[in-house]
Amino acid sequence: MLMYDVIEKKKQKEALSREEIEFWVKGVTSGEIPDYQSAALLMAICINGMNEEETVILTEAMRDSGEKADLSCYGGKAVDKHSTGGVGDKTSLVVLPLVVSLGCIGAKMSGRALGHTGGTVDKLESIPGYCTELSEQEFRDVVASQGIAIVGQSGNFAPADKKLYALRDVTATVDCVPLIASSIMSKKLAAGADIIVLDVKCGSGAFMKTYDDARTLADCMVSIGKGCGKKCAAIISDMDVPLGQAIGCALEVKEAVKLLRNDKGCEELSDLRENCLKLAENIVSLCFDMPLEEARRRCEENLINGKAFETFCGWIKAQGGDLSFLEDIDSFCKAEYCGEYKAKKSGMITKMNTESIGKAGVVLGAGRLRKGDPIDFSAGLIICRKTGDNVKEGEVIAKLYSSVKNDFSEAEELLDGAIEIE
Ligand code: URA
Repeated sequence: MLMYDVIEKKKQKEALSREEIEFWVKGVTSGEIPDYQSAALLMAICINGMNEEETVILTEAMRDSGEKADLSCYGGKAVDKHSTGGVGDKTSLVVLPLVVSLGCIGAKMSGRALGHTGGTVDKLESIPGYCTELSEQEFRDVVASQGIAIVGQSGNFAPADKKLYALRDVTATVDCVPLIASSIMSKKLAAGADIIVLDVKCGSGAFMKTYDDARTLADCMVSIGKGCGKKCAAIISDMDVPLGQAIGCALEVKEAVKLLRNDKGCEELSDLRENCLKLAENIVSLCFDMPLEEARRRCEENLINGKAFETFCGWIKAQGGDLSFLEDIDSFCKAEYCGEYKAKKSGMITKMNTESIGKAGVVLGAGRLRKGDPIDFSAGLIICRKTGDNVKEGEVIAKLYSSVKNDFSEAEELLDGAIEIE
């Protein structure tokens, strides 16, 4: 088979066969197919698309290009959730212990913050002692004893996707639904869960800006999951405002703990609570073949009766985290410098550009622009007022925190452009 012929076929808008897709992905993995030929095929796919069958075959081929985790030994169904990335999205910290408290197995690899979006692994590392790098045996021991573990990405999962994603990044071929969906799902499938629930974010702070685009991506990922023999569902959630109030590692962990403990003031976190419950009810429903309403009832029950928080504490301790910080969340590292972003005029907040708010977090030190940049765990924002709220001139809309910057002007400028008051 010649790669030239495969490119030509896609250029002519024809569907590729299993043999052709597998030939390409094997050649990418081994390095035998040069980047310029893969780049040409990626562009042809971007322009001419892929049907459902081709997309499933591409996903399977990338899934099979490297290591695959086996989570069948824990005596329960392994579940995974994936968010397409947002601002203030700390749902994994709540959803996983919640569903595990109901009998699911949550053995998960998570990512780090990049650009305006946060990463679960950085958030967890803000808990003193918590270890995100476990040996395979340590990881298995934590899952076996707690039913849950979350570590950073390691191992050689879906290496073909790693190479193709890097190539897409520099050839303007990222924004193509079959390529995005197969990229995300190949990694999820290699990670070994039986049940995958996706949180496709939609709006100004998300990868997908419109509902229709988010829906197309969600449908494509769910059909891949099902096509690969998994139970799979997706929700589409709002990223036109940050999720919850906190943005930044320690601030977000504290907020997740508040929700898991039902602390006073939790009413302010109703959007976060609802997002977490929607994901959890879908996971539990698929896991135990239960109607959504019953799954919802059980999830609400375990959030209120403290069982989800108990599971959270057991898990954090098993991965080395110091529980005294969860008991007294005020003992988390505090930012050296604090500021307030105030309303410039009275009126209603009509719009928030969530990506710009996420970028304000990055300039305060709460995120990173390049892989490997350090993160200030104490940095970030607390969003006190959101879209639809009335504010008076001078009222605090956001509190700003940083230990690396005592000049908040750059963050304030981003917030000026992000928040519209009319
Ligand atoms: N995230 C991924 O892992 N892959 C994509 O293609 C886009 C976002």
